[in-house]
Amino acid sequence: MSGTASADWVNPLRDKRDKRMPRIAGPCGVVIFGVTGDLATKKLMPAIYDLANRGLLPPTFALIGFARREWADQDFAKIVHDAVKAHARTPFRQEVWDRLSEGIRFVQGTFDDDASFASLKETLDKLDAERGTGGNHAFYLSIPPKAFPTVCEQLSRSGLARPDGDRWSRVVIEKPFGHDLDSAKSLNHVVNSVFPEESVFRIDHYLGKETVQNILALRFANQLFDPIWNAHYVDHVQITMAEDIGLGGRAGYFDGVGSARDVIQNHLTQLLALTAMEEPVSFSPAELQAEKIKVLSATRLAEPLDENTSRGQYTAGWQGGEKVFGLLEEDGFSKTSTTETFAAITLEVDTRRWAGVPFYLRTGKRLGRRVTEIALVFKRAPHLPFDATMTDELGKNALVIRVQPDEGITLRFGSKVPGHSMEVRDVNMDFSYGSAFAEDSPEAYERLILDVLLGEPSLFPVNQEVELSWKILDPALDYWARLDSEALARPDPYEAGGWGPESAFEMLRRTGREWRRP
Ligand code: BG6
Repeated sequence: MSGTASADWVNPLRDKRDKRMPRIAGPCGVVIFGVTGDLATKKLMPAIYDLANRGLLPPTFALIGFARREWADQDFAKIVHDAVKAHARTPFRQEVWDRLSEGIRFVQGTFDDDASFASLKETLDKLDAERGTGGNHAFYLSIPPKAFPTVCEQLSRSGLARPDGDRWSRVVIEKPFGHDLDSAKSLNHVVNSVFPEESVFRIDHYLGKETVQNILALRFANQLFDPIWNAHYVDHVQITMAEDIGLGGRAGYFDGVGSARDVIQNHLTQLLALTAMEEPVSFSPAELQAEKIKVLSATRLAEPLDENTSRGQYTAGWQGGEKVFGLLEEDGFSKTSTTETFAAITLEVDTRRWAGVPFYLRTGKRLGRRVTEIALVFKRAPHLPFDATMTDELGKNALVIRVQPDEGITLRFGSKVPGHSMEVRDVNMDFSYGSAFAEDSPEAYERLILDVLLGEPSLFPVNQEVELSWKILDPALDYWARLDSEALARPDPYEAGGWGPESAFEMLRRTGREWRRP
């Protein structure tokens, strides 16, 4: 090659940047719609402060609140300040707060009022000129989905949705992305008619969790696990998301939604996709999404539905030494509500890797304790050369990804009990994040908000994934709706503090299996 670089010459060093260095967001502003909600107070504002504290936001960053309240900028700044003090992960530092608060603005308005959006545009233009936000904006819709169409249209009308040149405009939406396949399609249609798909960031906060990203590291950075990660060795997979909290105070969102729509359609289906998908060609967003879409297209509910699904509703009981109400006594729920607070389903993944391996997904409120885990339960050894009673207490081998709390991985296998006889019992080998690494994991929302600002879409489900997840779940929802409408059955009761209704235990028992007791 001659001394001058040709136009298509690619500098081999260009991509050798040390990817361990965190990337810092460029000039931009985040507009939050729904600033008075719980999510904004407990997660979004604290995560923005934590990012600023870690030096990951530019000095020109601006945070803009939009709501009906008659607040001045300082009133909103005080709300953010209190939220940060109460909920931020990292320590409060006055100098970080001072810099952040200089870029805090508030726009008073309502979603259906053109003048409110004109005033939002004016505020953003002024910030671009004075603070240097560069005409780049993320619009975070932390509002009920029924308001999405209006807000998207207003952003479009006021010229904020599609800026010129290389300035960007992104929209961030929170679940629920619809309540079934049809409504998800129309929602996607509305959002995509204003924002192109590459500017839409759908939050599934489970994908921002460190332990969930570690599924990819565990599977694709190691040689050890892949040979046994298939139907030859795995008997079944259990994905559990158990919560001990009840639904007091959440009737407005939860009644009529239920556990399956609330978390199975999104978080648990995403965990299944990461566990069951094939190795992507690379970790580029498109390759990763292609593999998730492929495995979700091969996934379906096992039939018959009465044997392969279970739904429940918690009744009064004891939790953490306290007497707690049943769902029907919680404020805001009607005495006849059939909203499920527990759901379990059996899925089948029709691929060469997983044919014949059931994936059991379960979630519930007011269960024994808060725990999320993915357990690959292995087949028994084909032959046990021991005296019969010596293996009485030997279970099946299991590899358990502990998503939270106590993040880590457990390998469960049989070991000889010390003594003269060859008795074998289960033991655990543990990896724990807390003891293996010194640094704390960032909160899921820190990671996800930063990725929005960087325009990095890997951890955000695209509309095809959302629609496929509804396609998988819809038959169970329709089945339960039919039971309700024909008054054939209600969700099965289970006592608060337990592990769900009898029908969920029966779902596995019928196949000779049992749920793990995390
Ligand atoms: C949300 C659900 O998506 O996840 C809530 O709407 C649930 O019902 C929450 O409580 C649990 O999140 P985490 O991160 O605490 O497991």
